[in-house]
Amino acid sequence: MGRVIDPGQLASWDRDGFVVLPDFVDNELQADLRTRIAEIVADYSASGLPDGAVSVFSTTEQTHAQDDWFLTSGDVIRPFLEAGAFDGAGNQIVPMEQALNKLGHAMHDLDPVFDRFSRTPALAELAAELGFVDPLLLQSMVIFKPPHIGGEVTCHCDHSFLWTEPQTVVGFWFALDAATVDNGCMWAIPGGQTGGARTRFRREGAGTTTDVLDPKPYDMDALVPLEVEAGTCIAFHGCLPHWSGPNTSDQPRLAYTLHLIDGAAHYAADNWLQRGPDLPLRGF
Ligand code: FE2
Repeated sequence: MGRVIDPGQLASWDRDGFVVLPDFVDNELQADLRTRIAEIVADYSASGLPDGAVSVFSTTEQTHAQDDWFLTSGDVIRPFLEAGAFDGAGNQIVPMEQALNKLGHAMHDLDPVFDRFSRTPALAELAAELGFVDPLLLQSMVIFKPPHIGGEVTCHCDHSFLWTEPQTVVGFWFALDAATVDNGCMWAIPGGQTGGARTRFRREGAGTTTDVLDPKPYDMDALVPLEVEAGTCIAFHGCLPHWSGPNTSDQPRLAYTLHLIDGAAHYAADNWLQRGPDLPLRGF
């Protein structure tokens, strides 16, 4: 197939640490994924959330349970809920569409619709053009960011959470709704990837810890908004600082993200995301 990104886009990838690719996902594939996500949400509404989900999020005290829910989610499909979706007795107080924060983290290997969306020839070609030699699909997330509820995601880079030596993680952020400043689009610091990761989040004992590698705060004034239409793919370097604001609008801002690492790099044994032997990482 032909090249997915042109020389100008490749130059902006090298310079800025990200590239915005409008119309990357065709309408049919977008619709398939939206329908599948709606089915999963409807299933949770009809049959209830999976065992454990509600108890983890129904109080603010259960840090250890929330850690476990997260740390064992690398090879399953699991809902993560909005704080405030439940009262102290564990009763859900908002509709399911408003209660879900995200789904994670292995939809691309466990669900045929996500698998198709995540393993298109165009995405395989894009990964190759961005320099992957042995691309492995590590992590997938559906990020709901519902109207009036979806909150801020503080400025970070993804290498902090998915550490390889050398750094190889690249994020692919797919807009399933138009993303605007009002509904909480992604923002990024162009060129900020050259600064490397300032923290490292990793497992320690039964829990997690964050190592501070560089205490300098990010220059929030350098963030630029990436307002995009549905179907756009934003590819971004693992060290690119990015941020998103709360959804203050009455418009949804559904997104799907996929993170790739290169199999040629060493994947840290104390990364939070670990898979069991039954679900080894795969490429395209
Ligand atoms: Fe991120």
